[in-house]
Amino acid sequence: MQTHPSKYGNTLEIGHLIGGEEVFEGRMLERHNPADCADLIARFPEASKETLRKAARTAQKAFQEWSRTPAPVRGSVLLNLAGVLSREKDTLVRLMVREVGKTFKEAGGDVQEAIDTAVFFASEGRRLYGQTVPSEMKNKELFTFRRPMGVVGMITAGNFPIAVPSWKLIPAILTGNTVVWKPSEDAPALSFVLVKLFEEAGLPPGVINLVLGGGKDSSGQWLVELMDEGLLNKFAFTGSTAVGRWIGEVAGRNLLRPTLELGGKNPLVVLRDSDLELAVEGAWWSAFATGGQRCTSAGNILVDAPIYDEFKKRFLEKTESTVVGNPIQYPEVNYGPFINARLLERWIEHYTWGQAEGANLLFGKARITTANPYPHFKGDPEAGLFGWPTVWEARPGMKQFEQEIFGPTINLVRVDGLDEAIQAANAHPYGLSSAVYTNRRDWAYRFKNEIKAGMTSINNSTVGAEAHLPFGGIRGSGNGARESGIWVIEEYTYWQAVNEEYSGKLQLAQMDTEYTKPRAPTRWAQILE
Ligand code: UN1
Repeated sequence: MQTHPSKYGNTLEIGHLIGGEEVFEGRMLERHNPADCADLIARFPEASKETLRKAARTAQKAFQEWSRTPAPVRGSVLLNLAGVLSREKDTLVRLMVREVGKTFKEAGGDVQEAIDTAVFFASEGRRLYGQTVPSEMKNKELFTFRRPMGVVGMITAGNFPIAVPSWKLIPAILTGNTVVWKPSEDAPALSFVLVKLFEEAGLPPGVINLVLGGGKDSSGQWLVELMDEGLLNKFAFTGSTAVGRWIGEVAGRNLLRPTLELGGKNPLVVLRDSDLELAVEGAWWSAFATGGQRCTSAGNILVDAPIYDEFKKRFLEKTESTVVGNPIQYPEVNYGPFINARLLERWIEHYTWGQAEGANLLFGKARITTANPYPHFKGDPEAGLFGWPTVWEARPGMKQFEQEIFGPTINLVRVDGLDEAIQAANAHPYGLSSAVYTNRRDWAYRFKNEIKAGMTSINNSTVGAEAHLPFGGIRGSGNGARESGIWVIEEYTYWQAVNEEYSGKLQLAQMDTEYTKPRAPTRWAQILE
């Protein structure tokens, strides 16, 4: 690694990390600060298929030793990691604000989620339970053991550049797997530092191999294709539903079970009896935290008819006071830039969907520029990739209502009563997060029973999952895999059933088993008459 001075800190010149060695192979790419593109964050190479094969073979070799290392010893690396991450938290936060444009507060949450995950799994190395199971034979014992899958290929998105990779890396290595990880091209520097911190925590070389590069027609796509060469035993992906579907197909034809965490169009329902102030705050945070660039961000706010006008008034007031800008210079901003130009372009496109379908634009004017100024903007809008907070009135059936729009856009939707609210909340192809605001227990219960989503909040926002609850979705949001907490262990292990016979005989299950036969029946009806 080399460093050169840049606008808000150093530029990092970094390579892939394969078997603990820094490898510079491939044409060089660049990552710029999305809040101020003059700030060059990193120069890094694009991994070719041959580099990726080398990384996978290195991981295969490291698997021999690592999978034999006792799980509590593997866990002790994670205990060290929690300490190392805590020590370096401020540095990671500063780098994250520069590299992906999060606010300091949210970057702190992102790093803390990784620390919480490391703490959780450090002691899981001392559990990782299997079962002892009674045999139907005498003098025979049955057991189950969790075994690692082997080499895991991983691709992660840039919106949670430390937390989301940690959800995958930490449980994968705790259970004895080794990894080839291709992070988002939007966060190469953070990913490099994260792998270095795993090494500092004591992880042997080759257990996590970092390969840098782009997605489509680049290192990400080529890594997926290694499944067809038999070089990977498992795949884990966070990103778009379209890419997830393709990864699922490649994994399927190789009989691999992938972890797919995909998009969302998360509904937040506000019912007529709710605490309106709480609901407005939760809805605003769900819509605009991280500039709407979370897979858990709210997509539609469904508001009960009797309170619709009052909610709309208060929500618009809150939206209009949102402060946007460069989070490095102005730490008080509520959200910063789009993570990359592609996301900004796609977001701008949704304005045409809304207009074509007759949705009603209540607030927002697309990209913030000098010629299109936003009143609460801090910094130089031309230097980065910024968007107006945007609010529409929309209806079920509109593309705008159904499709994920990754950015600071939210739809208000009028519904009349709980039944219509639940129906509208399910009227989209996804099923990740969801929320309801109500003080009636029966309404909250109906909602949590009938909403189609992997995660549901009651009187809370759609975002902000804790690190030890199962995270994941249904329908277009994923394939049912869950990350975090004990549930993710299923993703990185298979069950081995072991039986041990110590009778000294060949006893045949089902055939030699001494099943109990029922005795002659008593006619109870006759006795009682
Ligand atoms: C994501 O957007 O991919 O629940 C992850 C949340 C965060 C994680 C989001 N803890 O909003």
